[in-house]
Amino acid sequence: MIAELEYKARRDALGVKLSNNSVAVLFSAEPKSRSNDTEYPYRQNSSFYYVSGFKEDNSALIFVKTKKGLKTILFVQGKDKKAELWSGKRLGEKRAKEKFLVNEVYAMSKLQEKLKEFLTNKKSLYYDFSLDYSKIKMLKRESKEIFAHKNIALLIGEMRLIKSATEIELIKKAIKITKEAHHAAMRFDKKDKFEYQLQAEIEYVFKSNGAYSDAYTSIVAGGNSANTLHYVKNDKILKQGELILIDAGCEYEYYASDITRTIPVNGKFTKPQKELYNMVLGVQKKIIKMVKPHVKRSTLQARSEKLLTLGMIKLGILKGDYKKLIKKKKHKKYFPHGIGHWMGLDVHDEAPYKYHNDSEIPLSSGMVLTIEPAIYCDKNDKSIPKKYRGIGIRIEDNILVTSKNYENLSKNIAKSVAAIEKKGTVFALKAYYGKGNNEL
Ligand code: GLY
Ligand code: MN
Ligand code: MN
Repeated sequence: MIAELEYKARRDALGVKLSNNSVAVLFSAEPKSRSNDTEYPYRQNSSFYYVSGFKEDNSALIFVKTKKGLKTILFVQGKDKKAELWSGKRLGEKRAKEKFLVNEVYAMSKLQEKLKEFLTNKKSLYYDFSLDYSKIKMLKRESKEIFAHKNIALLIGEMRLIKSATEIELIKKAIKITKEAHHAAMRFDKKDKFEYQLQAEIEYVFKSNGAYSDAYTSIVAGGNSANTLHYVKNDKILKQGELILIDAGCEYEYYASDITRTIPVNGKFTKPQKELYNMVLGVQKKIIKMVKPHVKRSTLQARSEKLLTLGMIKLGILKGDYKKLIKKKKHKKYFPHGIGHWMGLDVHDEAPYKYHNDSEIPLSSGMVLTIEPAIYCDKNDKSIPKKYRGIGIRIEDNILVTSKNYENLSKNIAKSVAAIEKKGTVFALKAYYGKGNNEL
């Protein structure tokens, strides 16, 4: 749980960034209709949540900054017995005023009227430029006199780059649940099972441990499906002798985890699988060790591309001089994505990678990023040794940058060939003895 004082401190810090004589407006996420009166599960907009801690839809937060200081105003859904019968209790204005450390609270129905009032004699209006068009239209209509329109998402994104101690605790909790889920997947008897059955095992662990949902759609990709980067169908049967790439992480109290492990269906890696796996793992370990303040992500990217290319040359996947191969981007066919991304309230956290002057933001204490090197060998790629075709491997951990170097927050999730194989043998023992020891 994050205390109200922390949300207030974030609002104050955002207030400092706002220009004088300005108004900033943030909206809650829109509910998304699935069909008729059925909706997709609601999830609050992360930046709105970051500064409000408020989970209800149809709400807004306004900042008014003048010479006199900062005023914060929360707009919430008014109490409505009939609506609450269908959709659940609303906090309402009175209780919201008691709970949140904002200056004023009004019903959402007053938003436009109040906005007009706040905008009088102001110079700038901040809002999220990616808002849906109807809201932007309304804001533009109400702010014709306003001198400048500015993107609030950038300012909050900068703040979201550095995680507080309480945010790090929530990320750790999410990773702890995800660890249990990946270990359950390793232990799960996968013989004659479909990918979705393994997915169910993983997500059962998420939900039964209080994780509201997944942080993104789980990827459970057996064999060659691992070579589709965003494979989410998860509808094929798992085959003995193949690997499964599992990219799955839960969200806990709005905080994400993002973990990939690649494991054998029958619990044991074959020799070629092990060769590829250990190559990627060696690269991942080296890149993680480079993480410390002042290092740039682009440096991690370049080093990972170099190391993977050298590894692929050694395994006969690429041929030639590594510098020339990289120059010609030959390695991209097998490692086409980034080495990692920011993670926090969102799995791909909405935080910037560059300063306003376009220079890169280096790593700094309190940032959380993923490190996820990979190699994808499509089954139809005749240019690579036959024994590697149809194998896709990604290994992904979540790394906190500390003042000295880093902490691998997911280091307790089995990762070496030996550790994964050890977990993978448990289902057989479980079947034999009739009960399992989860700590095995
Ligand atoms: N799970 C999405 C990613 O690894 O970036
Ligand atoms: Mn990731
Ligand atoms: Mn991932």
